[in-house]
This record gives sequence, C-alpha cells and structure tokens, in this order.
Amino acid sequence: MKALIINGPNLNLLGKREPGIYGDTSFDQILQALKDCFPSATIDYFQSNIEGELIDRLQEADGKYDGIVLNAGAYTHTSVALGDTIRAITTDVIEVHLSNVFAREEFRHNSFIAPHCIGSISGFGAEGYRLALDVLKNKSENRFFPRR
Ligand code: DQA
Repeated sequence: MKALIINGPNLNLLGKREPGIYGDTSFDQILQALKDCFPSATIDYFQSNIEGELIDRLQEADGKYDGIVLNAGAYTHTSVALGDTIRAITTDVIEVHLSNVFAREEFRHNSFIAPHCIGSISGFGAEGYRLALDVLKNKSENRFFPRR
C-alpha cells in the first residue's frame, strides 16, 4: 500500500498548538507511529501552509498512490479550489480532522472538500490518520469491503 498524507495550514504546529484540542503529540511522532502500524506500507508526507502548494501536491500525486489522506485544516472550510482539485483527480482522498469539527464553531461544520472525498473522519485525534490508512490498505488489498 502506498499512501500520501497531506496536512494543511498550522498542522506543522501540532504538539504545541492548542494541545487541549489537538493533543500534545507532534506530527513527526504521529507519522512514526503510523509507519510502525503499517510496516509494509510506503507512507509519504507533505505539509504546507499555502493553499496553492497543497493543490500542486494533490495534482502531482494523482495516479501515484492507492490513496491520499488529507487534513486540509482551515482550508477545509474556505477552499473551493481544494474541493475542485479533489474532484478533478482520480486518486481516492480521505478527509481527516483531529478534532470533532461538528462539535465546534458553526463555520467548521461546512467542508468544501467532503463531497469530493470517499469519506471523512473527524474527532478521533491522531487515530483518525490510522483509520484512514486502514481503509486505504484494505481497499488496496481488496479486503474486508470490496473495492468500489
Ligand atoms: C482541523 C479542524 C479545522 O477546523 C482547523 O482549522 C484545523 C484543524 C482538525 O484537524 O481538527 O486547522 O482540521
């Protein structure tokens, strides 16, 4: 299984940023734990605070991965362009949020990317990335649930 994790704005601050909401673990630590969970997988990682760079990376990744796990951060709630990109590419994208966005401010309840993703995971902290990778692994092996 070959997966790409993309994190958007401010997620480079994980571990330091609002730990009561996002936890006190850095993404480096989370990534290492994910690699330990999926030892036979290739897991690439990209983070940017810049919307266009996220779009470029999604476009470049198209066709090269079994799936993409995307936490678009606040761009989730603002970016028509990111939604258009996910719609334009053929590789499956799973939306992940550490926090339960539906239990937070109303502006976080809308996602411009969700309609174009194969599914969304919200509220399970770092575990959400593991759940998303599990879905992609099972899909790549045609296990558990048949491939769509
Ligand atoms: C987030 C939720 C977003 O609303 C917020 O802007 C983030 C992080 C999450 O992982 O819970 O930056 O995507």
